[in-house]
Amino acid sequence: MLVFATSDKGGTGRSVTSSNIIYRRALGGHDVAYLDFDFGSPTAGAIFGLRASQGTRTGFGMHRYLRGFDGVDEPQAIDIWGETERQGLRNRPDGSGNLVLFPGDEGGGEFASNKDVVARCVRLFTRLEEEFSMVLVDLSAGRSYATHIVLQALADRRLSKVMSRWLVFHRWTRQHVLAASNLVYGKDGLLESGEQHKLGADQFLQMIRFVRTAVVDPRSTDLSALRPTQLAWLTDTNKELQKLASELRLGRTSTLGSVPLDPVLQWREQIITDTDTITRQIANPATVDSFVNLGKKLADDWSEL
Ligand SMILES: Nc1ncnc2c1ncn2[C@@H]1O[C@H](COP(=O)(O)OP(=O)(O)OP(=O)(O)O)[C@@H](O)[C@H]1O
Ligand SMILES: [Mg+2]
Repeated sequence: MLVFATSDKGGTGRSVTSSNIIYRRALGGHDVAYLDFDFGSPTAGAIFGLRASQGTRTGFGMHRYLRGFDGVDEPQAIDIWGETERQGLRNRPDGSGNLVLFPGDEGGGEFASNKDVVARCVRLFTRLEEEFSMVLVDLSAGRSYATHIVLQALADRRLSKVMSRWLVFHRWTRQHVLAASNLVYGKDGLLESGEQHKLGADQFLQMIRFVRTAVVDPRSTDLSALRPTQLAWLTDTNKELQKLASELRLGRTSTLGSVPLDPVLQWREQIITDTDTITRQIANPATVDSFVNLGKKLADDWSEL
């Protein structure tokens, strides 16, 4: 399965949430890959605690592979369990699956699509889809070159039988809800762009779900220190946002799930391990539950959701 992670705005929690979802899938015994297609800012390595936190220096990253640099016939694949500098991730737990990052190149930037770039993308997706149960592609935000490259790749007949899904990440604020809706349904949005590449809007819409990140639940006991006026305001604003979201077609049925606001992630982009929740008790177990649930729902049959 190919999973495309996108968002209209930057800083939505797209990369941190996606990384934690696939980490939890790997712990559950599934072979998973994370492809850094955020061409303007290839920093996925940071979340996994890799030395190459700003992209790889080997010259074999995703940018140079897709652009067809001489000698780069395959992009670099990094085994996270073996290469991470983070102690808590370093020892591969029994029964876990492969956890592999395909990084971008350090200093790599956005680049336009052409038929050779698309052909290399198709070749890569076809190979990785066979090798991994879930291949998560973290796209540059907005109406990006990265999105156009993958939409063109998906129109190739070699990928026509491959299951693909799209996650559109957004914060739980008015501007983010408006922006996420516009990215999917708006002018030159995902549905319109998909149609240009032979992906019918109805069929494409079946493949798209929204994910709300860093959500504060006004009913949470964590908020007991707030004044009653603040709690009342939060409750009203939450209701308004729910109404807006359903009017803009990102209500409950088109949402795969939410991730609660977690103090650890507010301060650092990282994988939350069981040591963080159970031993050190610095992160909330509910945050991990949300990652596990999102991963399960991603793998489920969506016609049943
Ligand atoms: N559930 C959460 N609770 C609190 N903070 C979060 C949560 N999820 C993500 N964050 C934080 O929000 C910030 C943005 O997250 P992230 O980098 O994943 O977003 P992004 O959409 O990938 O951004 P970019 O467009 O820059 O790639 C990070 O500092 C991250 O740690
Ligand atoms: Mg990111």
